[in-house]
Amino acid sequence: MQTAETTPGVAGRLAAARRIIGLAGDWAKGYFDRYDSLSVETKSSRQDVVSIADRDVEDLIRAEIRAAFPLDGLFGEERGGEGETSGYTWVVDPIDGTACFLHGLASWCVVIALVGDGRTLIGLILDPMSGRLYQAIAGGGAWCDGRRLSVDRTTPINGGLFALGASTVAQGAQMGRIVEGLLNAGGVFMRNGSAALSLAHVAAGHYLGFYEPRLSSWDCLAGLLLVEEAGGVADDFLAGPGLSGKGPVFAAAPQVAGAFRALTGE
Ligand code: IPD
Ligand code: CA
Ligand code: CA
Repeated sequence: MQTAETTPGVAGRLAAARRIIGLAGDWAKGYFDRYDSLSVETKSSRQDVVSIADRDVEDLIRAEIRAAFPLDGLFGEERGGEGETSGYTWVVDPIDGTACFLHGLASWCVVIALVGDGRTLIGLILDPMSGRLYQAIAGGGAWCDGRRLSVDRTTPINGGLFALGASTVAQGAQMGRIVEGLLNAGGVFMRNGSAALSLAHVAAGHYLGFYEPRLSSWDCLAGLLLVEEAGGVADDFLAGPGLSGKGPVFAAAPQVAGAFRALTGE
């Protein structure tokens, strides 16, 4: 099978993505340094916040991609979609973890994925506060700053950490049941406020799994590819909700995947 690594066009786009996400991270960090002076707007609820930082960082990423690959599609959280004729579409979350960002917490990241032929070809997640760049290429592995990533393949549920996410769309009862089940199984639950960073941490073996009932492609495609390429179990979001849909996101280390999935009720 041809891997994304050997697909013509992907290597150049990966190199460009690395450069662009670095620029975006620096730009976002400039805003974060004065987060308390940003005017905060709300979207679907009072907890669904956004600021000029999200929009400016997405605009920067889009302009760089547009200049380098004018025929590629663009799909971003803040500015929506633009069609493609090249067969490639970039999926962008300029700041994942905006609530953390706007409350002065360091748990946020920049996310870029490239989709082609119905699958995620590359995924990059930059944590500008630690400087860590997580990147995966379909069929070519997952890496962080030169280190090959692997999920934690040995720790059982009662020895590791599980990340959960939830938005303000009513999920209280389900999340309560999952937390209860995890605690009863001896597990520990975490929520860091960034779905993408949580998935990167599953790929790096820091968390054993991640689950959130309702996310969008920009939140999860890069992270799901990271987990898959790091040897974990990761649902195929494009085959389910797709590029513009919303739906559950599940990823886990193989030895706990069955039990953790049962706890989520999915
Ligand atoms: C959010 C974060 C959060 C998750 C929300 C997402 P945003 O993305 O990933 O962890 O719980 O569902 O919407 O709004 O910070 O880009
Ligand atoms: Ca997001
Ligand atoms: Ca966002």
